[in-house]
Amino acid sequence: MPVVNQFTVEQVSTPEAREEALQIRFDVFIKEQRVGPDVESDEYDLIDPHWLVRNEAGAAIATARVTDKGNGLGKLERVAVCEDYRKQGVGRILIQAIERDALKMGFSQFIVHAQTHCIQFYEKLGYHVVDETVFLEDNIPHVLMGHALA
Ligand SMILES: CC(C)(COP(=O)(O)OP(=O)(O)OC[C@H]1O[C@@H](n2cnc3c(N)ncnc32)[C@H](O)[C@@H]1OP(=O)(O)O)[C@@H](O)C(=O)NCCC(=O)NCCS
Repeated sequence: MPVVNQFTVEQVSTPEAREEALQIRFDVFIKEQRVGPDVESDEYDLIDPHWLVRNEAGAAIATARVTDKGNGLGKLERVAVCEDYRKQGVGRILIQAIERDALKMGFSQFIVHAQTHCIQFYEKLGYHVVDETVFLEDNIPHVLMGHALA
């Protein structure tokens, strides 16, 4: 379980922790970004590996999940850092920990539908824009980005 500064990253392993992840997504995507609850939540919530970042007090402050697309390809999804904890390196710690775990799980490449305001965030983590075509998901502009893990 990597600890960076005061932040700890864990792969979700209990129903309670999964609920904590879903609560962060509710706050960030449904309340803050006005994504529809029927779009935000889907059947992969029950089967995909999820990760959580906790602060020093043990509170869950960030989450993401990975969907298996086959042949070593994973799709990074639902990347969310609670508003009060942004721009403190939490997103970076989360993605880097997920990538380390994902390599051990047999993934070799990640893609992400990146909200266009986050392109630089992903670029700083080694991702590149695969296709510059901007597309809408729930009215939010996105581009396809990718990154080789190994
Ligand atoms: C996008 C998000 C995950 C970034 O998390 P974060 O914890 O703020 O990011 P970090 O602090 O780890 O940032 C790492 C680097 O990316 C940069 N960065 C972070 N967000 C950025 C943004 N929106 N635009 C440009 N650069 C950004 C940081 O400045 C930092 O750069 P540095 O290493 O040069 O200092 C977070 O803002 C978030 O949850 N947003 C709302 C949900 C969302 O849009 N999710 C993405 C769905 S694709």
